[in-house]
Amino acid sequence: MLEVSMDNLQFGYGEELVLSGLNYNAKAGDFVCLLGQSGCGKSTLLRLIAGLEKSNPGQLMVGGKPVDGPSLDRTMVFQDYGLFPWMTAGDNICIALKQKYKTWDKPKLKEVALEWTRNLGLDEELFDKYPMNLSGGQKQRFATARAFAIDAPLLLMDEPFGALDAVTKALLQDTVLELWQNGKEKRKTIFFVTHSVDEALLLATDILVLGQAPSKIIYTHSFTEATKPTRETLFTDPAVLDLRNRLTQIIYDEINEKALRLKQQKAADKSAEKTTIFNRKKAI
Ligand SMILES: Nc1ncnc2c1ncn2[C@@H]1O[C@H](COP(=O)(O)OP(=O)(O)O)[C@@H](O)[C@H]1O
Ligand SMILES: [Mg+2]
Repeated sequence: MLEVSMDNLQFGYGEELVLSGLNYNAKAGDFVCLLGQSGCGKSTLLRLIAGLEKSNPGQLMVGGKPVDGPSLDRTMVFQDYGLFPWMTAGDNICIALKQKYKTWDKPKLKEVALEWTRNLGLDEELFDKYPMNLSGGQKQRFATARAFAIDAPLLLMDEPFGALDAVTKALLQDTVLELWQNGKEKRKTIFFVTHSVDEALLLATDILVLGQAPSKIIYTHSFTEATKPTRETLFTDPAVLDLRNRLTQIIYDEINEKALRLKQQKAADKSAEKTTIFNRKKAI
């Protein structure tokens, strides 16, 4: 359980800014869902929080401390699972556990890894299979089991269910929500990137929408215990329907604005090119 605070967080991979001044405080135990069009910097923000990229001092704090490289406090779950293909699914969990619990012997590592395999609704016989012999849903369950097994207080999930079919996705959403809720007063803080407004509505305590790059946070919404949608109210509660429309509209407006900007830029480039050719011909 860690709070995350951003104070005018700026970041670019080179000269060009990707994030242009984010201000946000996530409380410990919040489930923050990030929405925004492709390329706006959602993964970049997770990588900064994970400590895989470096921000300027003072702009990003986790648990009251400046982020200074990766830490076992924070775990990432990726869309492409991130399981080592040369190890069995079970060993993928054991090796992560070993990093955190250095004194544990093999039987203890296996016992805890098996417990999390079961917690994620996986059959124990899958434990000794290699990732290539598992379905996408099973691989993502193992990756999620690994993330929860090492019990990091901050979980960073980057479109983890983006590649899964609808039923598998719904089951995994319920599992993650349940594991997070079961944490009670020790709930993990989760940052979860998704393309799906419905997924954000179902999972989040807080929704952030990032604008196009160089991006800022252009919309936030916080739920209370009483207003947080459930699967039952997701498509029936008028307040949720209204919020879904608003979020969808904001995202579409951003996409249209970007498309228009690119079109105008193209037209300007073409016109500049024509003027250059005309001037060259005149000179000849
Ligand atoms: N390692 C990198 N080096 C240089 N540019 C990158 C790198 N990773 C991402 N970018 C660029 O940063 C921008 C934001 O990317 P990303 O954070 O992946 O967006 P999102 O996850 O919202 O789709 C994009 O323009 C992308 O091309
Ligand atoms: Mg991304």
